[in-house]
Parts: sequence; C-alpha cells; structure tokens
Amino acid sequence: MINKCLFPVAGYGTRFLPATKAMAKEMLPIVQKPLVQYGVEEAVEAGLTDIAFVTGRGKRAIEDHFDRSYELEHQIAGTGKEAALSGIRSLIDQCTFSYTRQRHMAGLGNAILTGKTLIGDEAFGVVLADDLCFGHHKGVLQQMVTLYRQFRCSIVAIEEVPEDETHKYGVIAGDSMGDRIYRVNNMVEKPAPGDAPSNLAIIGRYILTPDIFEILENTPPGKNGEVQITDALLEQARTGCVIAYKFDGRRFDCGSVDGFVAATNYCYQNCYLPNAG
Ligand code: G1P
Repeated sequence: MINKCLFPVAGYGTRFLPATKAMAKEMLPIVQKPLVQYGVEEAVEAGLTDIAFVTGRGKRAIEDHFDRSYELEHQIAGTGKEAALSGIRSLIDQCTFSYTRQRHMAGLGNAILTGKTLIGDEAFGVVLADDLCFGHHKGVLQQMVTLYRQFRCSIVAIEEVPEDETHKYGVIAGDSMGDRIYRVNNMVEKPAPGDAPSNLAIIGRYILTPDIFEILENTPPGKNGEVQITDALLEQARTGCVIAYKFDGRRFDCGSVDGFVAATNYCYQNCYLPNAG
C-alpha cells in the first residue's frame, strides 16, 4: 500500500565538521554501518522498497553504497570477508533506488517538494537518516505504516523531550485519541523558549499523503527563512487530519556528537555482530 520512502540527504552536516567537509553526513558509520543504511533497512522492514533520495553536491558516496562494487567484491570473493557485505547486498537486491538533486538548501519542506518527481501521487514515508531509531518490537516506520492503514492521513512520529530542548524540533499540540496517538491541532517549528505548545517533539519519521506537495508549493518560507514541512503539515491538519504518534522504541539524534556517541555505544552492545567485519 505504501511502497516509497523519501530520504532527504542534501544537508551539509555542519555540526560534524570537519568530518563532513568532503563526506556525506549520512555515510558516518555507527559501528560498521553507515547511518543511511540503518534508515533504508528500517524502510524495507516496513515494506517500503522504492527508495528515493533527494541528494545534493558531495553526496555521491550514497549512490555508490547502494550499488555493487565489482572490484572490491571480486577481490574478497571466496574469502571470509564476503560475509561483511551480505547485509548490504541483500538490501540492494530488495530495493529500487532513485535520485534527484536539490540545488539550493531551502529547508526540509523544499527538499521534500523536490522529491515530488520521484514520488508522484501516492502516500510515502520520509526518513531523516540522522535520527537513528530502534523499535522495541517493530521498527518505527513499520509501526507508522500500521497506523496509516487505520487513519489514511499524514502521520508524524513524536517523542517527549525536556522543555529546554523543544527549540530544536517541530513541536505539536493535539487531542489524545488513545494510546500513543494524538490528532494534531497545532504545530510550531523550533519554538522560542516559552512558546512551545507542548514537549512533544517531531522526530525524523513521517508518512505523508501526496496532497502535501501542493500545500508545500504554497507554503511561504518560515523559521530561518526556509520552507518548513512543519508549516505544511499544520495546514494539512487544519484542512484535514494529521496524526502524531508516540513511537515505541529508542531514538538517537546522530546529528549531535552526544547522540552519535550514545548510538555507537548502544549499537556496539546490541547490534554489533563480532564476525561480520
Ligand atoms: C527537522 C524538522 C523538525 C524535526 C526534526 C527532527 O529539523 O524541521 O521539525 O523536529 O527535523 O529531527 P532539523 O533537525 O533538520 O533542523
């Protein structure tokens, strides 16, 4: 029912300079896997196998990562090292990958709108790969796809954050509709201290219905002079319905050094396969 997942990966990753000077931030590894691979694995687990990237200058390593590497594979063929590539090989076999470029950094809303050409007229997932998520039983995107079947409208994943951190996120207010589910009635992108409508912060997982594109086309620049997906979603919530879902699992902000280190320690203890590298 939902097959496509959009990965906006054009951002510069300035919080990780100088590591990201010549390298895509999404290729930073958490233990032995790049961040973007975790995101694609989560999408595939949810049944979203048409993977669409909104990319930019300096991001070609992402395309190479999701392709064969004949010389390398030839070199290690028949050795124990081949096992280290089995995960990414099987991921590549399950997916199609398409790419379009965002030429100007004009906000997440603009990046998503740039992906319209790859998505077309269907509901789709969005993964911000620097938010690394681990579901307790099912992946976060899979949990959201299940919810989409019920509500058939856009869904944002949310998490409670300390009040002094709300200024880093899109923040929602909504009416509780039962366990973990809110019907959104307000949304503010990166509110100033004291202006947050709650402590429920949007994290980097969305399911969007395709009417979002027309709304984005008419959304003026908002916070920081950029077109914000949060503003477009608020419009969708006003005219239709947007659900906020407090996901079951853990999320690490790998765009920050603290989150990156915490994710690395978590993965080292929980996901690392000693024989895989
Ligand atoms: C973006 C969104 C924000 C959301 C966040 C989640 O902000 O604009 O609403 O809370 O992702 O990671 P960014 O982190 O790209 O500045």
